[in-house]
Amino acid sequence: MTEPTNLQPSSAGGKSMHGVPFERRAPARVGLIGAGGRGQFLLGELRACEGVQLAAVADARQEMIEALKPKLADDPPAYYTGANCGQKLLEHDLDLVIVATSWETHTPLALEVMEAGKHAAVEVPAAVTLEECWQLVETSERTRRHCIMLENCCYGYWEMLVKRMCAAGLLGSLTHAECAYIHNLRSYLLQYQQWRRQAHIRSNRNLYPTHGLGPVAQCFDIGGEDAFDYLVSMSSREAGLSEYRARHIPADDPRQQEGYVCGDMNVSLIRTRQGRTIVLQHDVVTPRPYDRIFLVSGTKGTFRDYPPRLYLDEASQSEEEWLNVDNYRAAWEDPLWKEQGEQAIRLGGHGGMDYLMLYRLMQTMHAGLPPEMDVYDAADWSAPGPLSEQSVARRSAAVDFPVFRR
Ligand SMILES: NC(=O)c1ccc[n+]([C@@H]2O[C@H](COP(=O)([O-])OP(=O)(O)OC[C@H]3O[C@@H](n4cnc5c(N)ncnc54)[C@H](O)[C@@H]3O)[C@@H](O)[C@H]2O)c1
Repeated sequence: MTEPTNLQPSSAGGKSMHGVPFERRAPARVGLIGAGGRGQFLLGELRACEGVQLAAVADARQEMIEALKPKLADDPPAYYTGANCGQKLLEHDLDLVIVATSWETHTPLALEVMEAGKHAAVEVPAAVTLEECWQLVETSERTRRHCIMLENCCYGYWEMLVKRMCAAGLLGSLTHAECAYIHNLRSYLLQYQQWRRQAHIRSNRNLYPTHGLGPVAQCFDIGGEDAFDYLVSMSSREAGLSEYRARHIPADDPRQQEGYVCGDMNVSLIRTRQGRTIVLQHDVVTPRPYDRIFLVSGTKGTFRDYPPRLYLDEASQSEEEWLNVDNYRAAWEDPLWKEQGEQAIRLGGHGGMDYLMLYRLMQTMHAGLPPEMDVYDAADWSAPGPLSEQSVARRSAAVDFPVFRR
């Protein structure tokens, strides 16, 4: 059974935005909406990129703007705060606006950005409903503005290296991948005013699919030779967040009244049109080390991360042992890492991938090239959020991916 609404766009669709180049812009004039933890971090990395003019910053909360001002004192942007601060920022002459706010505001703000004639670069996930996925696609096509989801994990060292191995056929015909967002966030989620906790009250689904799925989608050339076909999903019981709360929060605290419905572990299985399978996991409440898994298998070998290791038919001596993947760095490292890796690691954002993502985005704007991730990637990689919720609610029934690329 499938949800018919998953398959249907609300309009006949516009001309594709895939491969559409940016107008050449050097320097690029950039604005930021949402100067919280992530937004302030991105600003630091963005300012390390050449040819960027940070023109305006908006945050609904005055205190976030005040905290930012000393850091940008050498070249201050225009600041906006309070209700409608995003709309005021959009009156500026800007090429690109980064949206680093809470999940439910990503799509509404990205739509306003594109309607105002600017390209949007949105934090993950870009959308939380299928309707929002369609709105992003349709608005991008109609306004001819890009909507890029800032999936930094696509710029991780091993992700970029393995993508090159896949494209060159080193792993053979690709058949299977496993990926995840496994991150013990219990104490963070239970902070008093943490908005992310609300999603655990509302939804039983994979709340954060894109960090794992984006790099795998690129290895499988989703949107090119392959496409996501359907998904089935199952959630475990909820226990981790409520037990942690019982141990760490006073009995009379209002948070004790909250009911969490999101299962601790959500496992989804995706089948692609080319018959490949993907296991996609989400768990942010179990005590265990951080893991995105990032396993890619083909007929000639397998890569698996955390820690990184490789098995190749042609080189492995034993069926029990992985190869030392360090021996493959020199031949397979992405040129972007060769060229900018040192600077990226020095700046530090998630091991360097944050800087490389922004560096590449700015490079494509300066040169008038198409962005490396487009609105269809944003929709495809965000869709497992709502799709997993539909499947979980129907005893893991199969649900079809919408065809966002027309
Ligand atoms: N890619 C990554 O590795 C990564 C890492 C951390 C966070 N994130 C993402 O970044 C986003 C922000 O997360 P965060 O941890 O910085 O949250 P945060 O709560 O620290 O910051 C969000 C900020 O947005 C502001 N805001 C919310 N709605 C607004 C609106 N309509 N107009 C203007 N300002 C608004 C809030 O006042 C707040 O300061 C989330 O989507 C999160 O998933 C991504």
